[in-house]
Amino acid sequence: MSQQPELEARLEDQNEFEPPESFVEQANVSDPSIYEEFDENWPECWEQAADLLDWSEEYDQVLDDSNPPFYEWFTGGSLNASQNCIDRHLEERGDEAAIEWVGEPTGEENRTYTYEDLHREVNEFAAALREMGVGEDDVVTMHMPMIPELPIAMLACARIGAPHSVVFAGFSASALAERMNAADSEYLVTANGYYRRGDALDHLEKANEGLEGVEHEVSDVVVKDRLGDDAHGHDLADNQHDYDELVAEHAGATVDPVERDAEDMLFLMYTSGTTGEPKGVKHTTGGYLAWNAWTSQAVLDIKPDDTYFCSADIGWITGHSYIVYGPLSLGTTTVMYEGTPDHPEQDRFWEIVDDLDVTQFYTAPTAIRAFMKWGAEYPDEHDLSSLRLLGTVGEPINPKAWKWYYKHIGDENCPIVDTWWQTETGGMMVTTLPGVNDMKPGSAGPPIPGNDVRVVDASGDEVSAGEAGYLTVEKPWPGMLRTLYQNDERFIQEYWAEYSDTDSDDPEDWVYFPEDGAKIDDDGYITVVGRVDDVVNVSGHRLGTMEIESAVVASEGVAEAAVVGADHEVKGEAVHAYVITEDGYDGGREMQDQIEQSVEDAIGPIARPESIVFTPELPKTRSGKIMRRLLEEIANGEDLGDTSTLRNPDVVEDIQQQVGSE
Ligand code: PRX
Repeated sequence: MSQQPELEARLEDQNEFEPPESFVEQANVSDPSIYEEFDENWPECWEQAADLLDWSEEYDQVLDDSNPPFYEWFTGGSLNASQNCIDRHLEERGDEAAIEWVGEPTGEENRTYTYEDLHREVNEFAAALREMGVGEDDVVTMHMPMIPELPIAMLACARIGAPHSVVFAGFSASALAERMNAADSEYLVTANGYYRRGDALDHLEKANEGLEGVEHEVSDVVVKDRLGDDAHGHDLADNQHDYDELVAEHAGATVDPVERDAEDMLFLMYTSGTTGEPKGVKHTTGGYLAWNAWTSQAVLDIKPDDTYFCSADIGWITGHSYIVYGPLSLGTTTVMYEGTPDHPEQDRFWEIVDDLDVTQFYTAPTAIRAFMKWGAEYPDEHDLSSLRLLGTVGEPINPKAWKWYYKHIGDENCPIVDTWWQTETGGMMVTTLPGVNDMKPGSAGPPIPGNDVRVVDASGDEVSAGEAGYLTVEKPWPGMLRTLYQNDERFIQEYWAEYSDTDSDDPEDWVYFPEDGAKIDDDGYITVVGRVDDVVNVSGHRLGTMEIESAVVASEGVAEAAVVGADHEVKGEAVHAYVITEDGYDGGREMQDQIEQSVEDAIGPIARPESIVFTPELPKTRSGKIMRRLLEEIANGEDLGDTSTLRNPDVVEDIQQQVGSE
C-alpha cells in the first residue's frame, strides 16, 4: 500500500503503454505487417475473416460494390450462423462449456451449457418455433433479460433462417410494441421476470402490456419461467406457451441448419437516431459473422480454451456481437451474468473473474468509473491473475479511468483494447491490436487493418493532427449494416448523404458518416469525442433526445420541452429536460413525477431525466430554433459564449438561476 502513491504518480505521467511481452508472444495477431498487407490486398484481405467460418457453399466474390452504398460481401456463398456457432465445434469441444451463466441471486448455482447441451436445446427450440409456424425470414422478437434462453432463442432462429429482433429488457412496453410494429413481427419470446439487485422483477406484465400495443395479430408468445416460486402469478393466454414445456415436447428433436445466403438477414437491431422512430439496423449472415469472428480473434485474442466475460447486455449490439456470435463462432466459453455489478456487493464481477478464471474481460467506461468510485479494495480482495486482456466499449474513456483499469484490474499486465464501433458497424472498427500496437490511454487507436477510417472537416477534407473533426469510413467493410429495415431511403439519408455524391455509382464517391466527432494524432491514433447528432450516451446506452422529448411533451400540462445530454461523473452523460408548462400548470413535484413516468413508459427507466427544469421560455434563435447547445452548456455549468444572437437572451439567466438553486 505504501507504494501506491508513487505508482499512481508514475502512471499519471505515462501516456504510452507497450503490450506485455508475455501477451505478444501468445497473441493471435502479433505481426505489424498486417496493416500493409491488408491495405495492399484489399478487399481480398477479408477472405481471412471468411476463412474463420464454415461455408456450405463457397462464395464467388469477396465484395460486390457495383451498387453503392448497397454493398454485398461474400456473394454467392451460403452458411448458417447456428451451425457455425455450435455444430462445427461439437467434435472437438462438445464437452467444453459454451455458455457459463451466472444468475444474480448468490445462492443459485451457475448453469453451464456445454456445446452439446447448447446444440440439444437450440435444436429443440428451433423445432418448437418451426412447429409454431415460424418460417424463413419471419422476424421473431425477443424481449428477454440476461438468461441463457436468450442466446438459445437467437441461435434457434438463426438455425431456421428467421431473423431475430432483440429488444432490451429494460425498454418499456410501448418501446416493445413500437419495434414489433415496425418489424411486422408476429412472434415474441419473453420471460416472466428476472432478478435485479435482489428483487424478482415482473417482466411479463410489461411484455403483455406491450403486446396490447401491437397493431397486427401476434400469433405466438413463448414465456420462459425464470422466477419459479418468486413468479408474479400471471396466467398464460391461449397463444402463450411455456418455454420449458415446449422444449420438453420437442426433446431429442433435430433441425438441419437452413442454408442462408451470405447476404440474408441474420438479425435486426433497433437503435436511436436524431429524429423519428428507432432505426431497424439490418445485419447479414456472412459479412456480420465473419467480421465478428475475425475481430474476436484479432482484438479480443479469443482462443477456444479461454473463458471470456463481456459484461454488456445481449439486448444491445455489444452483447449480440461479443457475448453471442463472435465468441461462439470461435468455440470458446462465453460468460453471461444476469444482474448488476454491485449485488450483493461491489465485487461481484471480480468474484466471477476469480471463480471462473476469466481470461478476457470486456466492459464499458461507465462501469469502470463506478468501480473507481467504489474503490480498489473490491478487486483487491480477489485473485484476478487469470486475466490476460481487458477491453472497453461504448463511450470515450478518460485516461484516469483507463489507468485505474490497467492497474487495479489488469495489474499492469494486460493490454487494454479501447474499441470504437456502433450498432451499425456490426463490430469493432477502431482499436489497437493488442499484440501489435502500443496503447495511448483515452485514444481508441488506429483503424482496424483494411479499414479506412478518417477524421475530416465539414467539407470532407482530412483535418491536421490534433484538430477536431468528424469521423468517416471511406471504404466498405464486411460487418457493415446493409440498410435500415424496409427503408433504403432513410439509410442513405442518415449515413451517406452528408459526405457522398449520392448520384454516383462509383464506390469512391460514397463515404459512411457515423455521426461522431473525433481527433487524430500524427501517428494515426483516433480519439473519439462523442456524438455530433442528438443522441445521448447514458451509461453506454444510446438514446435519442428527440424520443425523450416527445415523451416529455406527451405528459399532461407540458407545452414545449427541450431535452439535452450533459456530463455525468459515472454515467458519462445524463438526460436533462427543460419544460414550458401550459397555462394553469404549476410545474411542481407532481408534474415532475408525471413527466418521469411518461419517459419511463415511452422508453424505459434508463431515459429518466436527471433534472427537470421548468421555465417560462426556452432559448431560441431568431428563426425560432431551440438552442440545445446552450442548454447543454447550462447543464454542464460551463461559461456561455455570446448569447446576443438569441431572440430572447434574458431567458438564459432565468434558467441558470433555476439550475443553480436546485
Ligand atoms: O458515440 C460512439 C460511442 O457509442 C456510439 C455507438 O453506440 P451504439 O450503437 O449503442 O453501440 C455501442 C457499442 C458499440 C458511437 O457512435 N462509442 C462506442 N464506442 C466508443 C464510443 N465512443 C468513444 N470511444 C469508444 N470506444
